[in-house]
Amino acid sequence: MVDLLLVTDPPEIRALNEDPGVDRKFLPRGPLVNQLIAGRIWRWFEIKGEPLPSLAPRADKLRASKQRELARALDPASGKTLWSGEQISKLASFVRGRGTNESAAITIQEIVGRQFDPQYRADQESWQAAALIDRFREGFSPLQIVWQITGRLKQAFALLIRRAKEDRWAMHGTAIGVHGIVRAIGRMRQLRAEPHAGLLSIDAVLGRCLAPPARVPRTIESNVPFGTGELRPGTLAILKLDNGEATAPGGEAVFMAGHWNSCPAQAFVTALLQEVWRRSLTEGA
Ligand code: HEM
Repeated sequence: MVDLLLVTDPPEIRALNEDPGVDRKFLPRGPLVNQLIAGRIWRWFEIKGEPLPSLAPRADKLRASKQRELARALDPASGKTLWSGEQISKLASFVRGRGTNESAAITIQEIVGRQFDPQYRADQESWQAAALIDRFREGFSPLQIVWQITGRLKQAFALLIRRAKEDRWAMHGTAIGVHGIVRAIGRMRQLRAEPHAGLLSIDAVLGRCLAPPARVPRTIESNVPFGTGELRPGTLAILKLDNGEATAPGGEAVFMAGHWNSCPAQAFVTALLQEVWRRSLTEGA
């Protein structure tokens, strides 16, 4: 029925991720559950038959070149304006305890979307669509069947793909990557409410607020040594990146920096969070 492996040990995750026999080729093969998972990835996380970048194979040349291009485009050191003072002020105010999670999330989605399209429009509808997709990514549940029957899920994907102007990288950022920033800002708000928050170093703040995506999927493409045995082609491996521990900022653990699949938004996300935290300490003080 199923050939699935959950990997939780960080050194094992690193070793598997770097093995050339481990990839992101979600072909319909193997036992029923494997086929269902691959089918679900192909059905939903694609645009015009091409996968979203975090699900594209490692040897995909366009994926790799866009990864480099995006890292350059999103690098705050380039001097490009990546967000406005007004956007930072809204997020800082949220961190200081004002406003709702939803309005902060909309601002974050707008910031991310505008990296790809200066006219990107984020609103309650686009954020709720992203939130639904995030819950869908958490795994199978009976509720998801309802979302599919009622067409809610289809509408959510269609709306965000339209807003992303069918760009796979914009779609990834506004539907998936955005959640990492929203969660970090939520944790910042809790941290900011602590009595000695202002004394924390920025690295300590980021270490406590930033977390990697909970799990990322991989496919086994050739016989891969694992533990005392071997993984066979067709096995699905789920790498559990978030082990709930505080991380080093800019950490390899959060963004997979230094690996073939590293997040191109690392510098961008880090600088955005730093600026929001600093502003939250000065604003209204
Ligand atoms: C706190 C926020 C974020 C965290 C922690 C994060 C982390 C990660 C990680 C761990 C991966 C590797 C996924 C895998 O191996 O399967 C990844 C991939 C990626 N991330 Fe992020 N990300 C964040 C936000 C963003 C944002 C806002 C964007 C877009 C602006 C973005 C763009 C990407 C892209 C395009 C990839 C695929 C890279 C590739 O394989 O070509 N990320 N991210």
